[in-house]
Amino acid sequence: MNSPSAIAQNSTQYRIEDVSHTFPGTDIEALKNVSIDIKPGSFISFIGPSGCGKSTLLNAMAGLLTPSHGQILINDDQVDGPPDGVGIMFQKATLLPWRTTIENVLLPIELRDGAKAAKAHTDDAMSIIETVGLKGFENAYPGELSGGMAQRAAICRMLITEPDVLLLDEPFGALDELTRERMDLELQSIASTRNATVVLVTHSIPEAVFLSDTVYAMSARPGRISEIIEVDLPRPRDMDTLNHPDFAKFVSRVRTALNKGHGVNDD
Ligand SMILES: Nc1ncnc2c1ncn2[C@@H]1O[C@H](COP(=O)(O)OP(=O)(O)O)[C@@H](O)[C@H]1O
Ligand SMILES: [Mg+2]
Repeated sequence: MNSPSAIAQNSTQYRIEDVSHTFPGTDIEALKNVSIDIKPGSFISFIGPSGCGKSTLLNAMAGLLTPSHGQILINDDQVDGPPDGVGIMFQKATLLPWRTTIENVLLPIELRDGAKAAKAHTDDAMSIIETVGLKGFENAYPGELSGGMAQRAAICRMLITEPDVLLLDEPFGALDELTRERMDLELQSIASTRNATVVLVTHSIPEAVFLSDTVYAMSARPGRISEIIEVDLPRPRDMDTLNHPDFAKFVSRVRTALNKGHGVNDD
């Protein structure tokens, strides 16, 4: 594993080319003509009303569904299954209840390379667990963790394979506001330390602005990119960023974009 001070190289280039998706056997058109080039190491977010196709887009990027039109490329190779070097996290931490934190964190290595290889990664796992503030809970079971702690464990499990790209589908949506703010700070720090590309789906306009280099506002179904907002607030961002004179300006810009594209979801 890289030491935290070493900035990892990240040359993973994701390209979404004119992707549309209609769910097979239905006339539900979830996505329409989405094209995005993602700069390696950048932090982008998708925001839009419920049901506008955000998860569909992320699932297509994760190779979990094949879009009915267009293509998704990683370094010019078409994604046609879960790609290497890409970590995924969903709203609900899907930890296995019968495995401890560290056993859950090591699971991707165990599935990929076997139990012996997983054991050899114990130190790496402990170091990530420490980074997210879960030290002391490595032998706890998911039932003994709070919602925020379970999401931290899920972050560790995603990071153990050292992915260059993190695909996050409302990862902190179920957490209370304060925990979510803390997790956002940690996510920012993890992303910048590892120079990871992050693609975040969120409902929260302030969260999108706070974390992102670029916010993609999506219209109601079929989801299209209705507006692209470049957020050039200084980094690293912290609680003072919320008081930066431009912060409210970007929030308002995203809100206006979403209103144009039908209704903001303020939950
Ligand atoms: N497997 C599926 N089969 C049919 N329709 C689906 C399926 N998954 C999602 N949908 C529909 O596609 C649309 C987009 O869904 P989704 O990508 O989950 O939206 P979001 O994540 O933005 O809330 C919604 O109308 C949803 O009901
Ligand atoms: Mg969704």
